[in-house]
Amino acid sequence: MPEGGGYYSSKKTDDICEDVCGPTTKAALSMSRLRCALRGFDLKALLVLFVGVPVFILMVYLHGQKFTYFLRPIWEKAPKPFNPIPHYYDSNVTMDSLCRLHGWNVRETPRRVFDAVLFSNELDILAIRWKELHPYVSEFVLLESNSTFTGLRKPLFFAKNREQFKFVESRLTYGSVGGRFVKGENPFVEESYQRVALDQLIRIAGITDDDLLIMSDVDEIPSGHTINLLRWCDDIPEILHLQLRNYLYSFEFLLDDKSWRASVHRYRAGKTRYAHFRQTDDLLADSGWHCSFCFRYISEFVFKMKAYSHVDRVRFSYYLSPSRIQDVICKGADLFDMLPEEYTFQEIIAKLGPIPSTYSAVNLPGYLVQNVDKYRYLLPGNCKRESG
Ligand SMILES: *[C@@H]1O[C@H](CO)[C@@H](O)[C@H](O)[C@H]1NC(C)=O
Ligand SMILES: *[C@@H]1O[C@H](CO)[C@@H](O)[C@H](O)[C@H]1NC(C)=O
Repeated sequence: MPEGGGYYSSKKTDDICEDVCGPTTKAALSMSRLRCALRGFDLKALLVLFVGVPVFILMVYLHGQKFTYFLRPIWEKAPKPFNPIPHYYDSNVTMDSLCRLHGWNVRETPRRVFDAVLFSNELDILAIRWKELHPYVSEFVLLESNSTFTGLRKPLFFAKNREQFKFVESRLTYGSVGGRFVKGENPFVEESYQRVALDQLIRIAGITDDDLLIMSDVDEIPSGHTINLLRWCDDIPEILHLQLRNYLYSFEFLLDDKSWRASVHRYRAGKTRYAHFRQTDDLLADSGWHCSFCFRYISEFVFKMKAYSHVDRVRFSYYLSPSRIQDVICKGADLFDMLPEEYTFQEIIAKLGPIPSTYSAVNLPGYLVQNVDKYRYLLPGNCKRESG
């Protein structure tokens, strides 16, 4: 049998044809050439069918999500850009001047501030958040459930560790809600059920019109000075998104500054609803930190990957292997092996590959830097996690 490679040169093809198809008369030559070419085509077609197609299907199975993500600029339009509000701050500038720099006037007394979160298990990040906001917040509101968004049972982690949070006890409204445990339901349904329960808890906490309400996940931490500015200035927008520095795994991996889901509302009874989607165009620049997947233990990564609304991203069970997770963390790579979620090819390509390390621990949440021994794993140069 001829090797497939031979068919690429026509001279060789004729020779091989003579071997394979036997000697030919001049008259029959063109006919037999055609037959021979067809046979060659058959062989190639068979190769494509039995090798190429399975390999292609395997590639799509393993990397199909990457194809679709890479082509996102074609199938999805970029959302409308935000209207960024420049943000001025220095610790030695008076509040009167700071408000005026933003085009606002200073108030005689600050507004009351309510910080409301849905809690899962992120105890360290919660402590760092509450210490950061503690001087400016009148009432902390925390709701937890014995169900994850994906309907898995979980302990009431906050209730079990409440004694660690004595420093907010006098200003804490705590609530727990039973999970619905509906099998096979879209996780966003349980999530929105919990957000509605949180709305009720905020009212129980005693919020009134024009109090400030912070709506954000626990790991979206507004900086203290940002909240201080917003509570002291009079004409701030009714709803304002906060632009946060976006970190992954720890404050070593700074992805971008595109976190915007956190928002601050001047509360309006009957109108304000706890939400985590885009509600307005106004975005206050550089207002804090978002630290996703910033966990101490590998087991917490596994829990989060299984428990939260994007559970469909765990396409292969080896994604949950502890040694793989540790490698991914130290590289600054993606836990779900996904491409960046961007809307232009330029941005996708710019963000391909792991996130480069930053060596800066400047301008981070104060409590973190004041307690480096306790939170070393969150700081640059400490990617190794405890297995516990
Ligand atoms: C802060 O302001 C005070 C009073 O205006 C001034 O004396 C001091 O030098 C300032 N400190 C810094 C670090 O700029
Ligand atoms: C979850 O909490 C609710 C309300 O406290 C309780 O009735 C239910 O039994 C709990 N479910 C599980 C699985 O722990």
